[in-house]
Order: sequence, then C-alpha cells, then structure tokens
Amino acid sequence: MLLLLRKDYRTARFLVKQSEARWLDLGHCGQRIVAMDRFVVSGGTRLQGDVAVASSKNAVLPILAACLLTDQECVVSGVPLLEDVATMLRLLESMGVEVTRRGGTVRVRASARLETEAPYDIVRKMRASYYVLGPLLGRMGAARVSLPGGCAIGTRPVDLTLRGIEALGTRVRLEHGYVDAAAPSLRGARVLLEGARGPSVGATINTMMAAALAQGETVIAGAACEPEVADVAGFLNRMGATVDGAGTAEVLIKGVGRLGGAEYHPIPDRIETGTLAVAAAITKGRVRLTNCRPDHLEGFVDRLRETGAEVETTRTTMTVSAKSRARPADISTAPYPGFPTDLQAQFMALVCTAEGASTVTENIFPSRFMHAMELDRMGAKVEVNGNVAVVRGVDRLSGAQVMASDLRASAALVLAALVAEGKTEILRIYHLDRGYERLEQKLNALGAKIERVPH
Ligand code: EPZ
Repeated sequence: MLLLLRKDYRTARFLVKQSEARWLDLGHCGQRIVAMDRFVVSGGTRLQGDVAVASSKNAVLPILAACLLTDQECVVSGVPLLEDVATMLRLLESMGVEVTRRGGTVRVRASARLETEAPYDIVRKMRASYYVLGPLLGRMGAARVSLPGGCAIGTRPVDLTLRGIEALGTRVRLEHGYVDAAAPSLRGARVLLEGARGPSVGATINTMMAAALAQGETVIAGAACEPEVADVAGFLNRMGATVDGAGTAEVLIKGVGRLGGAEYHPIPDRIETGTLAVAAAITKGRVRLTNCRPDHLEGFVDRLRETGAEVETTRTTMTVSAKSRARPADISTAPYPGFPTDLQAQFMALVCTAEGASTVTENIFPSRFMHAMELDRMGAKVEVNGNVAVVRGVDRLSGAQVMASDLRASAALVLAALVAEGKTEILRIYHLDRGYERLEQKLNALGAKIERVPH
C-alpha cells in the first residue's frame, strides 16, 4: 500500500492522505513514519547571501515547560518548527494541557487537572522532557518523570537536578526507571548546583522553575550562565516571578504565591548561528546572519577568527566571510562564555580542511565524538584519544555515505558535505530535524545543493 504523508509546516502536524479530498491528522507524532529521510549533498558551492536565525531550541523547550506553572494562557512567538518542539508539545498535551499552534506562535493553557507523569516513551526520545519536573513540583507538588537513560553524546546524569529540587524540600524516590518526586510545600533554600564538569544548564533551569512558586528565597550558587538560563528567567519574570541574577553564577529567586499568563519571544539560537557561520567559512563564502546575538557567541567567534575567517558583527547581525583555506585552530569546550560543546562537531568539520593540525578538547561531554569516524569516511584525518581529538587538515574531502548519530554530529556532516568533492549521502537526518528548522532550505537559499530524499 502506498502511504502518502505530508507535514503541515504551519502547525507542525503530520497528515496522511486517505482520499483525494481527505487528509487524516496524525498529530505531532508522524515523524516516526518519516524518520528515515536522508540528504544528498553535492559539494563545491560557495555560500552567499542573507539568512535569518531562528529562536533558540534550548530556550524554547524549557519556556514551553514553564507554561505548566500557571493556569492562564501563555503565548510564545517565534517558536521554530523542530521535532523536539513537537515532542514537548505532545508531552504537554498528554498531561492535559491545551496547545494550539499557528506558524511560529504557540498558545499553551494548563488550566485543566494536570497529569503529573512524563512517560518513558517520550522522555527517552528527548531528554529535555525533563524540564516538566520543576514546573510540576511548583504547581502540583508532585511529578513522576522517567529517567532518560542512555544518550548518543555520552553519560548524562541527573544528580544535580535532583539535588536542586531536594534542597527545596522535595522527597525523591527512584523506582522502576522513574523519578517519583513529591513536595507538598516547596521551601526556598541555598543550593550549589556545580558538579565535577561544571554547572548544569538543566539543573539550574529546573530548580529555578520550581523555586518560582516556593515559599521564601532560593539562592542557586554555581548556576549555569548560558543565555538560555537568563531567557527562561525573563519568561518567568514576565509571568510574575522574581528571579534576579540569571545569566550569572548566582541566581536569587523570591518565591511568589501564583504566576500568571505571559507573552514571550525567545532569544535567537546561538548554535544555529554558529553552524551557519561555519557554513560560510568552510565554503569560503560570504554570509550575513540576521536576527542573531553575536554577544552570545564570543568564545566561538574568537576561534573562528583564528581560522582566518573575517567576522563583522552588529548587535543583531554577523557577517562571516573567508577567502582562503582555513588556518588550524585549537578549541576546548567550556561552560558559557567559553566555546560551546554544541558547536564542537561543526568546528571540527571546519578544521578538517585546515592547513595544519588542530586539537579539539571536549570537556563537557567527553565522548561526544561520534562524528569523527564519519568525517574520516569522507577523507578527514581525525584521531580521538579520550576527550581529545587531533585533526590533521587535508586539502580535500570526498563525498561518501555517512550516518548521522546525533543532532550536532549531523550538522557537522552537512558542513563537511558542502565542500566534499562529489555527492555525500547523509542517512538518518531526523537527528538534524530535532534541532534545526529546515536547515537544507536555509543553506540552499544561500547556494548549497542539498536534496532531502524521503524514505
Ligand atoms: C543542555 O543540556 C543542552 N540541552 C545541551 O544541548 C548542551 O550540550 C548542554 O546543556 C551543555 O551546554 C538543552 O538545553 C535542552 P548540562 P543539559 O546539565 O542541561 C554534567 C544540543 O545539542 N551533569 O548543562 O543536559 C553533564 O554530564 C544539546 O542542543 C552532571 O554531572 O546539560 C555535563 O558534563 C545536547 N549532573 C555537564 O554537567 C547533572 O545532574 C553539563 O550538562 C547534570 C549534568
């Protein structure tokens, strides 16, 4: 039987054709059926032109979860059409939340009696489902959230998140693969959320969300300083919370009795910005990125300039150009404002074609190197030893069949394919669709030749 499936990009829902006139709505979960799309990339064009950056995935996801903190309507605009966003909306709907989506505007109303469980079936697909934990505790005093399990980028514990909510008076039991959390009344406290690998974005945001409705003051010391943390705090404050210092290492939250609805437009995606910037540099093109925040990417821009790329910035634009082969540059990932781990794979793709050797040190997720072997299949020379990769630049990459393993690894393969000789076929690009809004369309508008081949 031939199954005709299409995606309505306005609503991010999947539709299957039943008859000439009738399309059956499969909701947000149709991606299971179209999951095996692949890209065929013909390398060799220089990218040129303007491209607008979408809102930040890693800000949007917790902001949508934070809507659980109120029974009033919240309106989030500029929401990118990503599979991870669809998953978060599906999770909220499964809890009894009313969700409507028109283009980039999502309305969320958590007025009904809420289910307090985030099941394994959803959490295993997207770790960020975890962001419902703090809001559910704040609003309902209880939450049952599946432990996420393994992850392609390495071990990702949740101990710091649990430390945060326990400090606020939550009783936590780990049973049958679930975190069972109960907090009849949350009380503010001082808590240090820095672990052996530094601060945690997820733990900081979850604790901040729970503390917004706790009695008294909470101080998060060793807080993550990423711009997404500050953006979530901006949304909470718009809802009536009192959060100070978000974006610094110490966040002070004065609990309030209730929160109300709010309208919000999240910050631009700094990782999409960096990915498109590498696309310009690796193809020796010239691209002006609009709707971005170069000040959120200082660690990255510094290293990009080191490769010889020219980077000009204004408050909301970044123009990246490169005229000759990249120079080698060493990077070492670090918490914000250092070089982001989420741009490590893409930067590695760039230095694969540099004139000399570069060292890539991954300090946040030490085994996040799944892309290295795939890049080697395209002729790169990457040698991984522990959390350090030595990349010996080659003068050309060659198209091959490669496999995307996670979101940023997929982006790295697309970037390498843009300059590889011949055709590159990238399998499993559903990883890419989780976090980039139609990346191939953006790159094609700049002159790339990427074809999405449905399964
Ligand atoms: C967020 O993940 C991002 N995800 C990740 O982006 C990003 O790579 C990461 O922050 C680091 O910047 C979202 O925002 C949805 P962490 P998160 O807790 O919050 C250790 C992407 O590609 N740690 O800040 O899960 C942890 O192992 C994704 O968009 C603990 O030890 O990351 C890591 O070494 C992938 N215990 C470090 O802290 C904990 O309880 C930072 O992780 C939690 C984390």
